[in-house]
Amino acid sequence: MKNIIKSICFLFLSVIFLGQGVFAEETKKLLSTDWSFKGYFGKFDRASLQRGYQVYTEVCSSCHSMSYLSYRNLAEKGGPEFSEEQAKAIAANFEVKDGPNDDGEMFTRPAKLSDKFVKPYQNDKEAMASNGGAYPPDMSVLVKARSGGADYIYSLLLGYEDPPNEINLDDGVYYNAYIYGNNIKMPKPLLDGQVEYNDGTEATEQQMAKDVVTFLAWAAEPHLEARHKIGFKAIIYLIIISILAYLSMKRLWSRIEPDV
Ligand code: HEC
Repeated sequence: MKNIIKSICFLFLSVIFLGQGVFAEETKKLLSTDWSFKGYFGKFDRASLQRGYQVYTEVCSSCHSMSYLSYRNLAEKGGPEFSEEQAKAIAANFEVKDGPNDDGEMFTRPAKLSDKFVKPYQNDKEAMASNGGAYPPDMSVLVKARSGGADYIYSLLLGYEDPPNEINLDDGVYYNAYIYGNNIKMPKPLLDGQVEYNDGTEATEQQMAKDVVTFLAWAAEPHLEARHKIGFKAIIYLIIISILAYLSMKRLWSRIEPDV
């Protein structure tokens, strides 16, 4: 009996240790940068959010949808905070299908603030057929959906490398140091100078990756700033309550004669 228990324990422990060994090989330390939205008082950098939106529309949106977002979100507080006029102008650049009209026909019209972000594909099948069988995931809450969050997506965007010699990749498959299994069917999306920023910021690969990930982090958690503000107020409140409790305790106990 003792032997059986011993061998079960041994098996159990070796599975744990071996498992850890395997995982340690698979995971590479993620890259990071000075995210403005991390920490207790973190806020989104407005300019970075606006540039990130530009990178999303000009680069990522040809394959990835962001179906939870509407154009009016771009003008909301805590987000990129484009003015309402700017957001309307942005929306008007896109065409949406509407109808049927009085004649029973579908028609296209420019998008309005109330419309959801236009999707690149009609459905999952078209998306997969256009991307070598891989599905480009919706990016509305991707930062929350992947472990490692913002750092992971930032690393993935900067993690394209030449494959090691012994690895042969099929056509349409690329080597990335950070994706699970190192094979990804998304071609490297960012190259230096790919977009032209209006505010004069240099569009390096790192800068674009940082901006677009900031934008995605906001999309996944649009109320982050409000949440941080409430947290801050709650802490101030608790500090004041503690001081009051301390003072009233002192006062109550002052009526009792000390023992000496
Ligand atoms: C040419 C189409 C295309 C473009 C452009 C593109 N992607 Fe992708 N992306 C894909 C496909 C396809 C996949 C799925 C890859 C797979 O499963 O192998 C993917 C997957 C991803 C993933 C998920 C990786 C994971 O862990 O599953 C992230 C994050 C991502 N893309 C971010 C971006 C960002 C950010 C941009 C813009 C800078 C972008 N992509 C531009 C096609 C594209």
